[in-house]
Amino acid sequence: MSIFDAIGGTPVVSATVAVLYDRVTADPLLAPWFDGIDLRKLKAHQREFLTVALGGADEFNGRTIAQAHDGLAITGVAFDALLEHLREIIEDLGVEPEGVAVILDRVGSLRSDVIGDTDTGTGTAPRE
Ligand code: HEM
Repeated sequence: MSIFDAIGGTPVVSATVAVLYDRVTADPLLAPWFDGIDLRKLKAHQREFLTVALGGADEFNGRTIAQAHDGLAITGVAFDALLEHLREIIEDLGVEPEGVAVILDRVGSLRSDVIGDTDTGTGTAPRE
C-alpha cells in the first residue's frame, strides 16, 4: 500500500490542500511569496506539492523542484514554517505518526532544492 493510500487517499489529500492553502496565505511569514501568484497556479502548486510529498510523482511539467523555486529567495525559516503547517494539518486529519514521519521526511529532503543559495538560515527574505 502506498503512503497515499495509507493516509486515506484523495479525501485526505484534498482536505490537506484546502487547509494548507488557507494557512499559507494567512501566514504573514509565507504570504509574501505567494503574492502575485494566481489562484490557479497556487492550487496547482499545492496539488503538485502533495503529490511530490506523498511520493506519487517527482515532477510533472519538466521543471525540477530546484528550477521551480529558483530566484524566489525562499529562506530556511520559511521552508520550516511551511513544513510545520503541513505537520499540523496531517496530524489534525488523523494521519498515523508513522505516516506523518514519512511525509515530513520526504518533503524535508527537498530543503536544499527549495531554499535559495543566498539564505543565511536566519531571517526572512522578501520575494522582490
Ligand atoms: C517544501 C517543499 C515544497 C515542494 C515539494 C514544493 C513544490 C512545488 C511545485 C511542484 C511547484 C510547481 C512547479 C512548476 O510549476 O513547475 C512549486 C511552485 C512554487 N512554490 Fe513550492 N514547494 C515547496 C516549498 C515551497 C515554499 C517553502 C515556498 C515559499 C515559502 C514555495 C513557493 C512556491 C511558489 C511561489 C511557486 C510558484 C512559482 C511560479 O509559478 O512562478 N514552495 N512548488
